[in-house]
Amino acid sequence: MPQAELVVVANRLPVDRIDGLDGAEGWRRSPGGLVTALEPVMRGANGAWVGWPGQADLELEPFDFEGTHLVPVPLSEDEVQLYYEGFSNDTIWPLYHDVIAVPRYRRVWWDAYVRVNRRFAEAAAAAAAEGGTVWVQDYQLQLVPKMLREARPDLTIGYFHHIPFPAYGLYSQLPWRRQVLEGLLGADVIGFQRVADAGNFARAVRRQLRYETKASGIRVPLPDGGSRVALAKAFPISIDTASYVELAQRPDVKARAAEIRESLGNPDKILLGVDRLDYTKGIRHRLKAYGELLEDGRLSVEHVTLVQVASPSRERVQAYMQLRDEIEQMVSRINGDRDTMGHSAIRYLHQGYPREEMVALFLAADVMLVTALRDGMNLVAKEYVATRNDNRGVLILSEFAGAADELGSALRVNPHDIDALKDTIVRAVEMPAAEQGRRMRALRRKVIEHDVAAWSRDFLDALADARRAKENEE
Ligand code: G6P
Repeated sequence: MPQAELVVVANRLPVDRIDGLDGAEGWRRSPGGLVTALEPVMRGANGAWVGWPGQADLELEPFDFEGTHLVPVPLSEDEVQLYYEGFSNDTIWPLYHDVIAVPRYRRVWWDAYVRVNRRFAEAAAAAAAEGGTVWVQDYQLQLVPKMLREARPDLTIGYFHHIPFPAYGLYSQLPWRRQVLEGLLGADVIGFQRVADAGNFARAVRRQLRYETKASGIRVPLPDGGSRVALAKAFPISIDTASYVELAQRPDVKARAAEIRESLGNPDKILLGVDRLDYTKGIRHRLKAYGELLEDGRLSVEHVTLVQVASPSRERVQAYMQLRDEIEQMVSRINGDRDTMGHSAIRYLHQGYPREEMVALFLAADVMLVTALRDGMNLVAKEYVATRNDNRGVLILSEFAGAADELGSALRVNPHDIDALKDTIVRAVEMPAAEQGRRMRALRRKVIEHDVAAWSRDFLDALADARRAKENEE
């Protein structure tokens, strides 16, 4: 196999394993904008993707899939528990989402994180061509940039952080705060979702490492007494907008939207929430506000239904098990108190659905509720907007989601303020068509102009600039 000019390193490979009925195994491209956006780039650059195949103890040889060379990194059952469920999703995830759940700092988890990050770095180092580019994705792999730079100083290295980067007062809790900053600073370009995330990172670097920062540049000292500049700035991610627009035009998808409305009893208004079942998403706050509106009589189940899709996620992590119990108790209490024989307050679905079904749901929904307490971006908000070719529908969007920076024409809420959230829901339900149209047109312009292809182009351009600067120095 010739070596790759561009290597993507991510916790997961861009494919899901499917087991056929006859016992045959195969792979299917994972849904998701990142994978779609990078596919043409990967084909053009003889690209490779280094990642975990998603199951413990699965040892696989590298293989080619739809124009990309896939390099599986195996994880043992122990490593899944310590590196993935432990350090990634029970330490970093809650800490970086402003401690909504309590982060646990366990030394054995950290040791496994270092070990597994090294394995990813070694696989990437082996896959990349001389002078090539490596793009590392997300919080599971924060140490990879430095490890990679040490092994392969010829490479140009990018890192994109898909989740928030917290304020220094919280970040400083991390017992390994220096190592993580140094790990990230191994990259030439470090991308964040929001300007505020990049600012928090630069501040942590100044406070912890005493490095100099200027605009987006961070001066990283080198062992020989010299220095290099790493760029840390915002590159807000987006979706594959055109594919959502197209799906929303398909007659079968539109028919399915009508069928969904019908099967819910044709309510006047359908409210919708779509989230991974995660404590960062503010599902409880949303249910609380909705339940009170029914109780106050400002909304009634005769006219309004809430559909809440909560897709299963990280189900072996304690905080997620507990959240599921809390949400399911709330849903059944509200339904028990408010349902009538013919109408249900909440249709709750703890399931994941294919993209077609999600688009049909978006088309059926009059009001989309995105009430995250903290969210790197929130692509569901952008997906909803992209599908609304009719310029109808209302997006309620938390100011704590990265998407709020771009989607200024949404109804903005602080989900902690339950009274304000209630008023905003009522305002959305009652919004005249003309105002819906005005807002939706402005929102759609944003996601059409700035799609995920533009995002990856911007990031890769910044990396190409970094590479040219490096070549000029040599
Ligand atoms: C977030 C993270 C991703 C992660 C995804 C699903 O969007 O930023 O890195 O892949 O959640 O979580 P999972 O733990 O199933 O990979």
